[in-house]
Amino acid sequence: MSGITIVGSGRYLPGKPYTNQDLARVMDTSDEWIRQRTGIEQRHYCPEGQGASDLAVPAARLALESAGRTEADIDYIIFNTMTPDHILPGSGPLLGAKLGCPGTPALDVRSQCAAMIYSFQLADALLKTDGIRSILIVGAEAHAGFMPWRNWNALDGLEPVSADDYQRSTLHRGFAVIFGDGAGALLVERSSTPGTGLLSLDLHSDGRYSDELRIPAGFRRRPYATSELVEDAEFIPRMNGREVFRHAVSKLPQTVRAACERAGVGLDEVDWFIAHQANDRINRVVRERLGVPPEKVPSNIRSYGNTSGATIPILVDEMRRDGRLRAGQLVCFLALGAGLHWGAAVMRI
Ligand code: UT7
Repeated sequence: MSGITIVGSGRYLPGKPYTNQDLARVMDTSDEWIRQRTGIEQRHYCPEGQGASDLAVPAARLALESAGRTEADIDYIIFNTMTPDHILPGSGPLLGAKLGCPGTPALDVRSQCAAMIYSFQLADALLKTDGIRSILIVGAEAHAGFMPWRNWNALDGLEPVSADDYQRSTLHRGFAVIFGDGAGALLVERSSTPGTGLLSLDLHSDGRYSDELRIPAGFRRRPYATSELVEDAEFIPRMNGREVFRHAVSKLPQTVRAACERAGVGLDEVDWFIAHQANDRINRVVRERLGVPPEKVPSNIRSYGNTSGATIPILVDEMRRDGRLRAGQLVCFLALGAGLHWGAAVMRI
């Protein structure tokens, strides 16, 4: 039996891009700092009143179109998001309804930035099930809701920022400058060409480090939401950026080596290392530790920032559409995020 492979892709970035200079209006940061420390120049934000499922709709439609399939062909939806439309239900069933294929089984995956690697494993297992031929995997994030500034007009330069808001946003600037919104979608099916498709996986989760990146609010409290909790920013991520960075640059090279070994391929045989886009500096250290040339580690973080569960499908879509990613190439996907969850997948496209 051949492995699973990507037969279609799409992406959607909402609204206009916000530059680093825009962010410097509402908090103490600078274009120079953000560029040097992350490689990010701009990002998009989900508009008020829309959610992850809305961003996912155009990305999913493009993925179906590029595969020559329709909504009726989707046998299963896997929805990767850490910013769902609602606390419940998940965004998967909303997407099914919005796409016009209600009744399609839909599963939300909460493995944050590493969700795509987990989704490949799930899709591989599901595609061994009778009657499942096409799976839509979507990564979509609407982080705008947890951005620390309260006045979006100030970000647009339409109103002055209040001293209180500026101070609050500056307190959370470490995470606020890196995240952006967007959606990417992949349609996956079992490959009909022997020797192609998913060749190996290496996956890990370790909750001992869960406090390095978390949103503190949740059902440990009763009631789970009060105005005090909102004031105390319990609904805003707490990220120990340095620690997450440290884990990423040690765990990602290990998982890449493990996945390649399991697939029986050398690092030098891999055409592309498609990495989660959290910070260009992380991916530079990872590739240096692996001894991989820069041209094999594509980056688009400059344009979108860190779109969490959406970075890998957005990058894959760009590369498929501009012709970089072609049939027959060997790809290693790698990602690490809150959980911690991390892993790598090797696929012959
Ligand atoms: O998506 C998966 C999960 N997330 C990640 O993988 C993120 C991993 N971590 C990172 O990408 C980086 O740690 C950050 C980009 C978040 C931060 O970069 P850093 O180089 O680790 O900076 P730092 O937190 O060590 O801060 C260095 C300095 C500090 O000033 P002092 O104490 O040296 O005077 C910070 O206060 O930079 C200051 N700083 C900022 N300055 C301007 C922190 N954030 C900012 C900012 N603008 N946005």
